Amino acid sequence: MNHESWVTVACTINGSAQQFTLSPATPLSTLLRSHGLLSIKQGCSVGECGACTVLIDGVAIDSCLYLASWVDGKSISTLEGESVGGEISKIQQAYAKSGSVQCGFCTPGLVMATKALLAKPHQKPFTVQEIRRGLAGNLCRCTGYQMIVDTVRACEQE
Ligand code: FES
Ligand code: FES
Repeated sequence: MNHESWVTVACTINGSAQQFTLSPATPLSTLLRSHGLLSIKQGCSVGECGACTVLIDGVAIDSCLYLASWVDGKSISTLEGESVGGEISKIQQAYAKSGSVQCGFCTPGLVMATKALLAKPHQKPFTVQEIRRGLAGNLCRCTGYQMIVDTVRACEQE
């Protein structure tokens, strides 16, 4: 690798200012995992499963398809930022309570996608179709999705 082609980016991750020098081809998921943010799962690595979902400026994205060099000046949120003082967030609590966490591989991505969905301006309550459409990019092999829909509904009532 020719070091002259490296880029430096500055961003915040879960509220903390960070700076990285990296190859422009580095996927964001690779960068975040290499810095210990292991909630980001490498599922398919081609944008199909949503296991690598993070929020960038509040928008849910597949971090396996997003280049780390694009995050300059942006704010990244991952599941690690959801727990404060050792207490998990309301969304995480709702997932656990509903039985939507089975093998758990999809859960970090779903929690972040749910956070983005709930933050969108919408008429309450979401319809089932709106929830399914909102989380369509996040696959779950275990739950059959109804419990996940119920989880979003429960969060909306908080
Ligand atoms: S690992 Fe990114 S969408 Fe599957
Ligand atoms: S809980 Fe296993 S993939 Fe969703």
